[in-house]
Order: sequence, then C-alpha cells, then structure tokens
Amino acid sequence: MPVDEEDIADIKYISSVILDIVKIPLLSLMGRACDRIIYITTEGGIMSIWSMDLDSGDRRSVVKGPIHGLARPRPSSPYIIYIRDVTKGMEQHKIFCVDLREEEEKLFVEMDPMRIFGLVFDGSKTAFVGSTAAENALYLAEIDGSLEKLCVMDTIAFVSDIEGRYIVGFGNMRGNPYTYELFIYDLAQGEYEILSPKEGSQNKYPQLLNGKILFESNYEGKNRLYIYDPETKEITKVEFRYGDYEKFDPIEHGAYGWTDRGEIWAEGKKNGRSRLFVEGKEIYIPEGTIHGFPVFVEDKIFITMSSLINPPRIIMVDTKDDTIKTIFQTTLPDYIKKKFRRVEFVKYKSFDMLEIPMYVILANTKTPGPTVLYVHGGPWAEVMDCWSMSIAMLVAMGFHVLAPNFRGSTGYGDDFRNADIGDPGGGDLQDVVYAAKWAMDNNIADPKRIAIYGYSYGGYMTYLAMGKHPELWRCGIAGAGIVDWGKMYKLGDAIFRQFIDILFAGKKELWKERSPIEYVENVSRPICIIHPQNDTRCPLIPVMDYIQRLIQKGATFETHILPDIGHAILRMDDLVKIMLPTIIFLEKYLKTAQST
Ligand code: 4NP
Repeated sequence: MPVDEEDIADIKYISSVILDIVKIPLLSLMGRACDRIIYITTEGGIMSIWSMDLDSGDRRSVVKGPIHGLARPRPSSPYIIYIRDVTKGMEQHKIFCVDLREEEEKLFVEMDPMRIFGLVFDGSKTAFVGSTAAENALYLAEIDGSLEKLCVMDTIAFVSDIEGRYIVGFGNMRGNPYTYELFIYDLAQGEYEILSPKEGSQNKYPQLLNGKILFESNYEGKNRLYIYDPETKEITKVEFRYGDYEKFDPIEHGAYGWTDRGEIWAEGKKNGRSRLFVEGKEIYIPEGTIHGFPVFVEDKIFITMSSLINPPRIIMVDTKDDTIKTIFQTTLPDYIKKKFRRVEFVKYKSFDMLEIPMYVILANTKTPGPTVLYVHGGPWAEVMDCWSMSIAMLVAMGFHVLAPNFRGSTGYGDDFRNADIGDPGGGDLQDVVYAAKWAMDNNIADPKRIAIYGYSYGGYMTYLAMGKHPELWRCGIAGAGIVDWGKMYKLGDAIFRQFIDILFAGKKELWKERSPIEYVENVSRPICIIHPQNDTRCPLIPVMDYIQRLIQKGATFETHILPDIGHAILRMDDLVKIMLPTIIFLEKYLKTAQST
C-alpha cells in the first residue's frame, strides 16, 4: 500500500512534539538534607529523586529507578526515605532509604508490601497510612528496622507530620463525608485524639514544631491558619506581622510551615495561582504555581514553580535585595512556544447558575477551531496555572484546550470541593457539558470539532459524557477510566472502597445510574480507550466488559492496553505510550468536522 506523505509528516511532527515536551523535566522541591536541596523530577525520563548542592549548584540523582513517594527530608539528617512500587504498577509499596553520604539504597524496614499514600520522617522514624485488601492502618517504622502497626484507621486518612511524641494527619475521621478532622497520635500514650474546632468544619495538613500544631481550618468562615497546643488544648489564630496575606485573601493554602528562623510561611492559593508569604509579607515571584515546598536557608528561598506556558524551574529569591535568580530550567523549543497564543482564566455559569472556574489555553490557530475539553482526575484536584505536559502537547498540536475546574475541584473553597459528594457524574458532568457550550458561545470551539479527553476520574467523566451527551463530541479519549462502580468496589482495596463510600456519601443506589457501562449503547462517536494493565485504582477488568459491548454494537473504537504498568505514570516512555495514540486519534478526527 502506498504510504501517504502527509501522514508521515504528521507522525514526524507529533513525535517531535511529544519527545521535546517529555524531555522538559517536572520539578518539585521537597526540602533540604544537609547542604543539598532534594527534589522530585522526571529528568532522565523517570520520576525520581535528585539533589542540588546549595553553593555549587551541582545536580545529581539520589536513587536509580522510579519512586512513588518521598518523605520530606530533614535538614539535620542525611537520610532520604521514599517508597517504591515493587509490583509492576499494582501500587504495592516498600519503604527504602538512602544515606546521602554513601548513596547506597537500602530497604528501610522488612515489610509485606502495601499501598502507601504518603509518609513522613523525623530524622529517625517514619509514619504512614498503609492500605491492604482488608484495612487501612497507621504504622511506625524506625531506623533500627522495627515496624509497628499503631492502630486501624478505617477511613480516608493522610499522615502529614511526625515530631517528638506526635504523629499528625487528617481525614474523614468521624466518617462524615463532608468534613475533615485532624488526628493527633500520641506515641507516649499509644492513642489518638480527633480534633475539630467546630462541627462541620474542614481541618487539614497539620504541621508540627516543638510540640505545637499548625493547621488550616475554615471553622470561623475563611480557610485560615491556626495553632493548636496539645498540652493546653488551646487553639490560636495565626496573626501575621505584615498585611499582604490578608490583602491577598487566599481561598486555600498550597503548603505552609515554619522557616528555619521560626517564622510562619504560607503559600496562599486563589484562582489557580499561588503566592508566597512569610509572616504575612509577600515574597514576589513570577505568576504561576509553586510546586512542592519552598526551602528557606537564611536569607535565601529556593522555590520550584511553573505556569501553563512556562515549564518548571528552580528559582532562588534573595530576601535581602528581593532579587530572583533562576538556578535551573529547561527551555521550551521555539516552535512549541509559538503554538501558544495565550492563557485565559474565566468563570462561566453552569446549569444551576453555579460559577465554574476554567483555564482556557488558546493555541495559535484559528478561532473557532478544534478544541479539546481536558477533564482532570481526582476528582479532588484541579488544573492550576501550572505546567502540564499533556496540555502543552495538545496546544502544540494546534488544539485549544479547555480545562474546567468542575464542582468537586480543589482550590475554590471547601463548599465547592464538597459539591460532588453524593453526586459524582451528576452536577460535575453538567459542568463539563456547560464548558463545551461556553466555548461554542464564545467562538473558541468549532462546534463540530470538540473532543473530550481525561485520565482516571477524567476518564470516567469522558466515558459518561460519550454515553450521555454523544452529540456534543467529535470523539473522546478515556485513559484509566471507571465504567462500573459496583465492579470497581468489589475489586478495590480498603482505601478505594472508602473512597467510593465517601464520594457517593454512602448512596450505593446511585452506583448503577452513574456507571458509564449503562450508557454504552448510546456511544455514537469514535472512542479511544487507553488503560494500564495493572491499574489497581481503576481496574482494567470492567473496562474489558465495556469494550465487549462496543464490539457487539459495532462502534468505532480503538484500545491501547499498556503492559506491565499501573495507574501512576512514573516513566516518560509510558506517557509517550498514552499521548502518541491520543494525538494520532485527535489528529484524525479533529481535522475533519463532524458531518451529522
Ligand atoms: P484519580 O483516580 O482520578 O487518579 O485520583 C481515582 C481512582 C478512584 C476513584 C476516583 C479517582 N474513585 O472514585 O474510586
């Protein structure tokens, strides 16, 4: 068969876009160990840990191979503690340790692998919540190799710090899907206290310093910072010396803590961007989002940040003279930069008049033009003004990208985040449909060339949108999606069963109605299904039933099952395996308008 020259040119261009973008490393600063800053990066093609010398700028990898989580290092400790998946993507983790002086990886503790969502380290002990098929529990592992299960915590709970006699974290500790409470585990007493200053309030990310607990709460209205003293049981509102923080009036916080001088710093978030404050005084940084945690070393602050059009970089702010120096950055090739026209942040009204915030990334092509509706995962996550490899690839292909932060997204207050609880695939799906309508009304999207794309919860919404609103889309791409809540519940481990219980607020009777498999007969536009073989968050088995139904009805579809990997994309090769078929599929269908 003769080869079409135009197709070859397309494939060449598509591959260069994908390869040039995956080469730009993601960067997320985690802290400092001895005289080096420690960060997570995809430099070298895999998600791993690197360090940089504070004085010389010498960068090097700390561990070989992909990691799946890192405890924040401690400046006084040479140990870096992290987790690895030991089961080809099934998210069964073990804890490892590297001593920066020896650079040799060791198992931190002998253990059966389990799903670990986060871990904290105080220089010698590490605490984590581990999930098995049967239960979630809080564990303590020590540098001498001991491991102890402290207590069962059968609810969604995250550990956020450990110091002295306390381990602290937060979660739906009272089993109420709408509220987060703190837990304070006292190692001396062997029990934990649940803290909520007011019933119905949201309390998150407790941090410890000298036995005091800094946390975010909305119990007085706005999300603000408070200090709790577990000895006196007193809660004090943090009052800053400078007024910039209150003037900015953050809606939420990215992170916060104490500087090495004992001052309180906070990353305030509003409308998908973050700003940094120390004692309430703004530290001016370029527009965008901070990744990970700033590192404070005397007068200097090291920060990793990016925006939707500026790839990640490490900057150093000198607070003595307010200068900013970029100390590491990989630049975007010019031909890709030229494809970005501009980024707009908008709010549109959904079916019930609720305002939905959205980032719109316009490509340098015509308007109205081919458009991709990008549905983020989570669902308790958001698209911020932050570098995204997938969005950058879509824009570089000349597609306008709409990234709605549908109800349930983080970043816009707890009432907005809670608005999908008890209603997944309901109001949030309408918000996505209204995003497409907004883009047509505003002459951005060509009504006959709108695709929907999402991964994980975004994959779920894509399946549901293709089945419930088939007329809106030219085509759809569902990655690692959910098609059947009942089957998913049976296949999930303890934490994902709890996740589903919380998300549906226990309304099991909604599962069937909100499962995309119920609407597969209505799918009338081409659908591309991409799914990791070993995904244990969103298992492949129910998706195989969905595919069977597509075959039976003679639908136009394609399927890519990614061998030997799980839900989390830790190797850039695997991102290529997702984005190459995605873009080829979009090119094929968005190049031609829908005829009916
Ligand atoms: P995510 O994955 O979008 O990557 O966070 C998910 C996995 C499970 C569920 C939702 C999202 N769930 O609802 O069970």
